Amino acid sequence: MRKQRIIGLFDSGVGGLTVMKEILEQLFDVRIVYFGDTARVPYGNRSQEELVRFGEESVTFLIGQGAEVIVVACNTSSATALPILRERFNIPMIGMVDPGARLAVEKTIAGRIGLIATETTVRSKAYSTGVSRALARGSVPENAVLRESWQQGEQAIALVKAQGCPLFVPLIEAGLANSAEARGIAKTYLAPLQAAGVDALILGCTHYPFLEPVLKEILGEDVLIIDPALAVVEELKVLLQEMEGRDAANSERRSRSEISAVNAGKSQWRARYFVSGDPGLFRQVGNTLLHEPIESVEQVCFGDTPFHT
Ligand code: DGL
Repeated sequence: MRKQRIIGLFDSGVGGLTVMKEILEQLFDVRIVYFGDTARVPYGNRSQEELVRFGEESVTFLIGQGAEVIVVACNTSSATALPILRERFNIPMIGMVDPGARLAVEKTIAGRIGLIATETTVRSKAYSTGVSRALARGSVPENAVLRESWQQGEQAIALVKAQGCPLFVPLIEAGLANSAEARGIAKTYLAPLQAAGVDALILGCTHYPFLEPVLKEILGEDVLIIDPALAVVEELKVLLQEMEGRDAANSERRSRSEISAVNAGKSQWRARYFVSGDPGLFRQVGNTLLHEPIESVEQVCFGDTPFHT
């Protein structure tokens, strides 16, 4: 009998829902627990120390909810805190940066990759390192012309321009992704990337897919938008299969009562949502994105989260 895994996913706010959406659409036999740290959003200008502490609290909470895999659905935390969280917790974790960098390497046509992200993610240089790491690990562009010219040393593949976009997250959290204000700010942020001639633009913050229609309108068809969430789901599928394989090897040791306990939970819920801030606003903004509506959101408070109802 197949075990229905519980995936724990966290972000500073609604951004992780863009990753959750891909998981819900592609993986049908998993359950997902979401935590949005909306009382402490934005994470984009936090120190590494704070991000590690927030990450520890989120992971501990999600494990307490039964999570067996953690998706760090926040680029800022992935870029700064993830290596430390991996050392501190004995649970598989998938972040955004390596999958996103790999996808950009595979999809670029000119080898000129751009990044929009929070200031902390940009400062960390995690995506430049991620692109180099993806190439070193054998990822190559799908485009045959670029692949050949890169392999012959004639053309580089690199992150050529990274732009911090601090005003995007507050706008998105306030439900203003499709506003004239967002459009105006996006034009300013995108101009240097357009000037640098990027042909593939990584959305290096999980909030930004909320802005995709606005970004596409400004960039036109010449720039391919790279959403790391797609690559994260691919990696998650591989990881779940590996876990399934390990389970199958151990299945003889599993008792009947263990199996029926797993099945008893199957029909109970598909997704659960928790936030540290205002559940109503989260539900309202989240429902503009997800096809499966968010019916209820529960509030949890950690140490210094300021919002209490
Ligand atoms: N959505 C997060 C990220 O991917 C955090 C953004 C923020 O809170 O500033 O970076």
